[in-house]
Amino acid sequence: ATIRVEVARYRPGEDEEPVFQGYDVPLMPDWAVLDGLNHIKDQLDGSLSYRWSCRMGVCGSCGMTVNGEPRLTCGTFLTEFGAGPIRIEPLKGFPVIRDLVVDIDGFLAKLSSVRPWLVREGEELPLSAEYAQTPEQLEAYKQYSMCINCLLCYSACPVYVLDPDFLGPAAIALAQRYNLDSRDMGDRFDVLNQEDAVWGCTFVGECTRVCPKHVDPAEAIQRYKVTAALRSVLPWSRR
Ligand code: FES
Repeated sequence: ATIRVEVARYRPGEDEEPVFQGYDVPLMPDWAVLDGLNHIKDQLDGSLSYRWSCRMGVCGSCGMTVNGEPRLTCGTFLTEFGAGPIRIEPLKGFPVIRDLVVDIDGFLAKLSSVRPWLVREGEELPLSAEYAQTPEQLEAYKQYSMCINCLLCYSACPVYVLDPDFLGPAAIALAQRYNLDSRDMGDRFDVLNQEDAVWGCTFVGECTRVCPKHVDPAEAIQRYKVTAALRSVLPWSRR
């Protein structure tokens, strides 16, 4: 048996607009959508462009819009879609470079803007210094550290899709990953306490729903709203 896969094809600057091109792909029970794309690329049409690497839900590069939903294509089986067809488009909300490949430069700049590293102040310790943590201290931020930067949460976020300057779910969850780390002494208030950052979120919650790693960016954002609000009455409160 085969299943029809309709793939958005687009070369900005050459094509006027994206068009869908259909391919028949073997409907194998253990094939993910990404296997279907690899079959198209290897056997049917070598000109198709898309990103992937690990095939196991770790690298975060294979996110695409599958039948309208942002999904990791390596973690989405062809058999989920009955008799088909399956429509594959690039992630919504990002400029298309070619076919299914989107430009992630803006996203990477947002990640760096939250200072995603452990900030230590006023100490000079050897590189070998250890910073012990209890299991409870690890638990406080561990969930946010599971993010694989796959962009699904941005593609699902109605605020981001309307306002590309919105700092967005993954970057705010990443900031909280460091804010809530007992070893961190940094302060990210200037970046987070903005209309285009936590205050832009209208708490739709789609980011959390689509996250393949069960991170909860919606919670991270609401939580920082409380932190930021408290800070206006208790200026010394930091977390
Ligand atoms: Fe790495 Fe899908 S190919 S997450």
